[in-house]
Amino acid sequence: MSETKTASISPVIIGCDHAAYTMKECVKAFLTEMGVDVVDAGCHGLESVNYPDFAREVAQKVSDGTYERGILLCGTGLGMSMAANRFKGVRAALVSDGFSARMSREHNNSNVLVLGARVIGESLAQDLVRIWMETPFGGGRHQERIDMFEGFGS
Ligand code: RB5
Repeated sequence: MSETKTASISPVIIGCDHAAYTMKECVKAFLTEMGVDVVDAGCHGLESVNYPDFAREVAQKVSDGTYERGILLCGTGLGMSMAANRFKGVRAALVSDGFSARMSREHNNSNVLVLGARVIGESLAQDLVRIWMETPFGGGRHQERIDMFEGFGS
């Protein structure tokens, strides 16, 4: 019997607010189809909630190494990215085009993808997630540049 080796993909933690609940469910299903285990940090419905609570749930666990990568969604993606980037070692990238999604991995080693559910549609969100999941970090000079700002503000 032949054995097929597949690269293991680490689980991704995902969080959203009410404005992005529907898109979060769509992204979750898409990741599952890709064979990625998803840990859902909420929210779990359309009732109004505060996005910083969910940004903290996800960013804290990426910052402390519990998860390598996270995904956050809110209406614009702005609040989630601002809040997530307060956590040490978190490089949250708000993207709405494929080129930026790819570059955020290749050049910036982004470990949190942020999407704005009131800005982009579900098909684009899926494309961005796929690109972001599949693009490796380039390392080298890009790591040196990341090292230059990791200590900013501390
Ligand atoms: C919620 O109304 C909205 O402010 C939130 O989803 C997000 O867009 C914040 O940046």
